[in-house]
Amino acid sequence: MILTTLQLEEFRSYRRLSVDLPAAGLRIFGQNAGGKTSLLEAVYLLATMRSPRASSERETIHWESGVELGLPPYARVAARIRHNRHETDVEVVLTVDEERGGALRKRVKLDGRPRRAIDAVGALKVVLFTPDDLNLILGSPSVRRRYLDITLSQIDSTYLQALGQYGRLLEQRNSLLKELGGRRPRDERAIEDQMAYWDAEIVTRGAYLLAQRLRYVHEVDRVAAEEFRALARTEDRLGLRYSTTVTLPDALRERVVESTLADAQAFVARALESDLHRLRPDELRRGVTLVGPHRDDLHFLLGGHELSAYGSRGQQRLAVVATKLAELRQVVASTGERPVLLLDDVLSELDPEHQERLLAVLGSAGCQILITATDRALLDQPALAALPLVEARNGTLVWVEGEEASQPSEHG
Ligand SMILES: Nc1ncnc2c1ncn2[C@@H]1O[C@H](COP(=O)(O)OP(=O)(O)O)[C@@H](O)[C@H]1O
Ligand SMILES: [Mg+2]
Repeated sequence: MILTTLQLEEFRSYRRLSVDLPAAGLRIFGQNAGGKTSLLEAVYLLATMRSPRASSERETIHWESGVELGLPPYARVAARIRHNRHETDVEVVLTVDEERGGALRKRVKLDGRPRRAIDAVGALKVVLFTPDDLNLILGSPSVRRRYLDITLSQIDSTYLQALGQYGRLLEQRNSLLKELGGRRPRDERAIEDQMAYWDAEIVTRGAYLLAQRLRYVHEVDRVAAEEFRALARTEDRLGLRYSTTVTLPDALRERVVESTLADAQAFVARALESDLHRLRPDELRRGVTLVGPHRDDLHFLLGGHELSAYGSRGQQRLAVVATKLAELRQVVASTGERPVLLLDDVLSELDPEHQERLLAVLGSAGCQILITATDRALLDQPALAALPLVEARNGTLVWVEGEEASQPSEHG
């Protein structure tokens, strides 16, 4: 799929921008704070319905939005996506609802019709490469869970649905555990009766999430190892290993990744259910759900050693690049579509040899590429020669070289 047009209004430093994008993509350079990351952030938001960096999406709305006219602040991002023969329009509008204490509202449209955000995820597919990816290795387990969740949500809408339900069930189940755990005297029968419903509900969704994560990581482990070997030229194998709080012996894990998805979900469900039963007293005492995908983690290993502790920074960088390349292959394999590649300032992190290898791999994937760099010279690579060059400067894009016909234009 390719983005044919991109429009930004009041998004970060962009007050108003409308760009026609060539099928090959765009090279974007510009000084720090020029607006390069914001541009890719807008595209990422259209794909995943969330920002990769804003803890609060409120921050993406231009500081002075609405000030002149006394209107409520808003930001709007829209794009036209072409895949095979048909086109889709995606739009996200963020507004601040002053009447509800400044709460952020997100309104989403597909082809002009209002949709829930959850239904618009995946209409546009992207794979983002950024220096922040290093957090996948160095950050907390929640960073890695979020990564798996966003990646799988783009590929599998059932996963996205299960994820939303799981989160809500978890909150409800936890408050029930707190309430029941605090009651004196304790009536074991009544507790089991009340918990049975919540256990069953959470087990179904949790088992789906866990089965899909295990299957995804199993695939990505194999592909990322190959990509890493080609990039890093080392004999040490990169390994991705999903570690779960659910009791799953190796033999069962193998069946989860080798059988049908329905069977895999059933195997995991049984294991999760029995863990919940076993942990009932602990859960009641602590008032939280102690097992399930919300407590799991993903490990990166190099030659069997934890990469976060023993790897060099260079190895860690190549490992995340390899993981992203494996993600790209998985998106293509499971959806049959080529995602748009977003590369934010990643070349400066690699030496020239690795830059060249990465670009060669990406070039052969046949995807549209939006790539940024502070240093214009870094974008001067043979593999990128077909991509027009623009400069991002104070919320505008200035055409430097390439197809004049699709010159970005500024309105307003
Ligand atoms: N909500 C906002 N409104 C206006 N400007 C913003 C907003 N958020 C960030 N900026 C500005 O955008 C710039 C950052 O842009 P960014 O896309 O990160 O640049 P680059 O990636 O080129 O370094 C900074 O100058 C910052 O002050
Ligand atoms: Mg940046």
